[in-house]
Amino acid sequence: MTDRYAVIGNPVAHSKSPWIHAEFARACGEDIEYGRIEAPLAGFAGAVEVFRAAGGKGLNVTLPFKHQAFRYCSAASERAHAAQAANTLVFQKEPYGDNTDGFGLVRDLSGNLEFALQNRSVLVMGAGGAAQGVVGALLDAGISRLVIANRTLAKAQALAARFPGASACGYDALAGEGFDLVINATSAGLSGDGPSLPTGILGPGILAYDMVYGRDTPFLAAARAAGARPCDGLGMLVEQAAESFFVWRGVRPDVRPVLAKLRAA
Ligand code: ATR
Repeated sequence: MTDRYAVIGNPVAHSKSPWIHAEFARACGEDIEYGRIEAPLAGFAGAVEVFRAAGGKGLNVTLPFKHQAFRYCSAASERAHAAQAANTLVFQKEPYGDNTDGFGLVRDLSGNLEFALQNRSVLVMGAGGAAQGVVGALLDAGISRLVIANRTLAKAQALAARFPGASACGYDALAGEGFDLVINATSAGLSGDGPSLPTGILGPGILAYDMVYGRDTPFLAAARAAGARPCDGLGMLVEQAAESFFVWRGVRPDVRPVLAKLRAA
């Protein structure tokens, strides 16, 4: 019988995950079906129960349910605990939660973008769910320094306190600092301008990575104008999907052809 998976979120109509997983399944010869579920904002657990009762094997979870998904699970991976969020659910007897977002980001940086993280100095902008999902994986990748900057300083401090090796500050305090990699993990830029960085933070030789994909954000435009190397989060999207596929199926798909097709679309 064909194993069933889906992405659950709200909204979810725009999600590229069904297409990506269909490509992986075809390439790997795996017999799966992958749909999309738009759960009511107050109805995440109910929608998951319906899917499980119908024999569903696993879910990808997107906004705004990743934290709820983590809480829903009776067991979870270390990386899901670090993120306090799950983007991958596995249904056997009990629901198991995993988080492949940070892994996907690191794979995109070190693989697709050929950016070696070892001994690099990294700035993460934002201290919400998106930042929380990737800080652990960045620190594990051997970077030399991780600074979390946020508009609300207390949130950056609370996040940094959970990760030895991370420090926190506001945007103004970045003046005079230097980083090899700047990651935009704020939700700003989806609707208007985001935080402005002090002059000199973005410049030649610096990789400016926006976790958002599919649009030219003010952050990417500022990076380009300053001579930095701008990158969107499309590679992270495909890499986190590949890791979820691996978690479910035990097979690691080749991301390159899928990423190339998405870039060409
Ligand atoms: P997500 O799950 O996408 O991270 P979130 O948890 O709501 O969403 O967090 C949004 C992040 O974007 C926060 O770091 C937020 O800063 P605050 O904690 O100060 O609210 C940041 N953010 C959103 N709009 C912003 C803006 N206009 N300028 C600066 N930071 C912004």
